[in-house]
Amino acid sequence: MTSNHSKGGVGRTLHIVLLGVAMLALTLVMANVSAASAAEAFPPVASQPADGTSKTDMWRGIRSGEQGYVSIPNKSAGVLVQSEGELWRSVRNGPLSTYGGWALGGMIGLLVLFFLVRGRIRIDGQKTGRTIQRFNAFERGVHWLTAGSFVILAFTGLNVLYGRYTVLPLLGPEAFATMTQYGKFAHNYLGFAFMLGILLIFVMWVKHNIPERNDITWALKAGGLFSKGVHPAAKKFNAGQKVIFWATVLGGAALGFTGVQLLWPFSFASLADMQLYQLIHAAVAVVLTAVIIAHIYIGSVGMEGAFDAMGTGDVELQWAREHHSLWVQEVTGETPGRHGGHHHGRHRAPAE
Ligand code: HEM
Repeated sequence: MTSNHSKGGVGRTLHIVLLGVAMLALTLVMANVSAASAAEAFPPVASQPADGTSKTDMWRGIRSGEQGYVSIPNKSAGVLVQSEGELWRSVRNGPLSTYGGWALGGMIGLLVLFFLVRGRIRIDGQKTGRTIQRFNAFERGVHWLTAGSFVILAFTGLNVLYGRYTVLPLLGPEAFATMTQYGKFAHNYLGFAFMLGILLIFVMWVKHNIPERNDITWALKAGGLFSKGVHPAAKKFNAGQKVIFWATVLGGAALGFTGVQLLWPFSFASLADMQLYQLIHAAVAVVLTAVIIAHIYIGSVGMEGAFDAMGTGDVELQWAREHHSLWVQEVTGETPGRHGGHHHGRHRAPAE
C-alpha cells in the first residue's frame, strides 16, 4: 500500500511537471502569436495618428511649423519645430558671418593699403597758426556720446557673432562666458545712449548734409583723396562726410528699430519677425562698422589736422581752407582761391 501509494505519488508529480511545461510552452506560443497579431491590428500610434493621416503627413505638419493644441498659456509651445529657425540659423552662421567677416577684414586691409600708398594726408599749404571753430562743445559731446557707445556696441555685438570662434579659444569657456554676459548687459543698455546720439546728430547736422551740386564735383575727383594737392570745394561737410552722416543716421535708425524688437522679445514681433530683425540688425551693424572704421581712420591718423575738429573743436585755418573752402568763406567772408598761390586754384566756388 505504502509502496503503491508512493509510486502513484511520483507518477502524479511527473504529470504535473509535464503539464506545467506544456502549459508554459503553449503560453509562450500564444503570447507570440497574439503579439504578432496585435502588431497587425494596432500599429504604434506614431505611424498612424488617430485622424487617419499618414506618418509622413504628420511630420510634414510638424516641420512646416503648424501649431498644435496645448493647454498651457504659452500657445507658441504648440509649435514643435519652427522650421524658419533652421533657415535663420544657417543664414546667420553661414553667409551673414562670412560676408560680414570679409567686409570688416576687407575694409581694414584697404585702409592699410591706402596708408601705405598715400600716407597721411597732410595740410599742403603753409599753416597760419590761426584756428577757426568747427564744432562747439555740445556738438563734440554728442559726437563722443555716439562714438563711445557705438564702439562698445560694435565690440560686444561682434563678440556675439564671432566671439565663439575668436575669443573663446583664447580665454577659455569660463572667462568667455563672464565677458560675454557683461558684454550683453553693456550692449542692451548702451543701445539707448547710441539712439539718443543718433537723434541729436540728425537734428544738429541734417541741414549741412543735404546733397548739392558741389558733391558731384567732389565725388568725381574722389575728394582729392588719391591725388596730392587736389582739394575740391566743399561746404561744412563734403560728399564723403555726407555719406558717413546718412549711413550713420539711416543705419543707426535701422539698428535702433530692430534692436528694440529684440530687446523685448515677443512684445512687438513674432518669432519669425524677430529672426528677420536679427539678421537685418547684424547685417546693418557689420556694414556700418566697416564704414565707421574708415571714418575713424580718416578722422585720426589718416589726415593731419582732422582730429582737432572733434578734440578741441578748433581747426587750423589752412586745413579748413583746403578741405572746406566754401564753409570758410561763409564763416569768415574770405574769398576763396586767394590763399596760398600754390593751390592750383583749388578753392573754386560752385558757380565757376
Ligand atoms: C572713435 C573714433 C572716432 C573718431 C576719431 C572720430 C572723428 C571725427 C572727426 C574728427 C569728425 C569731424 C570731421 C570734420 O571736422 O570734418 C567726425 C565727424 C563725424 N563723426 Fe566721428 N569719429 C569717431 C567715431 C565716430 C562714430 C563711431 C560715429 C557714428 C557711429 C561717428 C560719426 C560722425 C559723424 C556723423 C560725423 C559728421 C560727418 C563726418 O564728418 O563724417 N564718429 N568724427
